[in-house]
Amino acid sequence: MKAPGFWRRYKERSFRKREKRKAENGKKFLFSLYRPSSFVAEQFKIIRTMVLRSGKDRACRTLLITSALPEEGKTFVSSNLAVSMAQSVSDQVVLIDSDLRNPSLHLLFGIGREREGLTTFCAKDIKVTDVLYRTHLQNLLFMPAGLPSDKNMEGLSTEKLQRLIRDIRQLHKDCFVIFDTGPVQLLADSLMISDLVDGVILVVRIGDTKREVLDKTINTLQERKIIGVVLNYCKVPKELYHGYHRYYAKAAQVERIAGSFEKE
Ligand SMILES: Nc1ncnc2c1ncn2[C@@H]1O[C@H](COP(=O)(O)OP(=O)(O)OP(=O)(O)O)[C@@H](O)[C@H]1O
Ligand SMILES: [Mg+2]
Repeated sequence: MKAPGFWRRYKERSFRKREKRKAENGKKFLFSLYRPSSFVAEQFKIIRTMVLRSGKDRACRTLLITSALPEEGKTFVSSNLAVSMAQSVSDQVVLIDSDLRNPSLHLLFGIGREREGLTTFCAKDIKVTDVLYRTHLQNLLFMPAGLPSDKNMEGLSTEKLQRLIRDIRQLHKDCFVIFDTGPVQLLADSLMISDLVDGVILVVRIGDTKREVLDKTINTLQERKIIGVVLNYCKVPKELYHGYHRYYAKAAQVERIAGSFEKE
């Protein structure tokens, strides 16, 4: 006969294992951090440049990354873009997991699901610094979604989010704030956040999301706020991919030759 508590402990252990596996996968997920010279990381540098060029007078400083449906790559784009931005700009970058129903960014940054975050900030009268965590990069701060509870469903409100953005700005004047959210067609949160940010980046899973769904999503969001669309799951033509690596290898060679010349 199994000892009392066996199943609970068994479940806890397999949950911990699953979380660990997901965290290890983070290394594969964060191309901009772990594989900065890869083709994918280069694409995020292009997206970063477009963000820095966005806006009439100055770049959009608060961004929402969203999509029409689940699993289109919002977290993939928001995390890699945040890392890429933090690597290039001198201003602080703050990445916020505002997908309260299905948060996953904490796994990439090795922060436990139980840590306080956005939901705590919304529920209690605490300082924003209490829920901001340091990351591998000096100017990248991360705010996890926070503890799950039924109250979360009512947790986000325009006033609380405005206070959040204002407090972060008071702390880091010219910072970039990036929100990772859930899908527009299923949750109201992303719509609410889209009203408060300077720009929205829409992630589209190529070959999966139907045109009508996409049109509906663009109409639901304020169209003028969409600063760009990221086409995810694109098949990259072989010539382009290999061309990039050949070009990169050549550049690295030239750099090495230049380096050895300098030393002498
Ligand atoms: N371009 C891609 N190529 C291959 N796999 C990808 C790509 N983009 C994302 N993925 C994978 O697809 C899965 C879903 O990605 P991600 O978590 O970023 O989607 P999401 O839109 O945030 O999902 P959710 O709606 O559940 O929050 C992940 O396992 C991720 O590794
Ligand atoms: Mg996600």
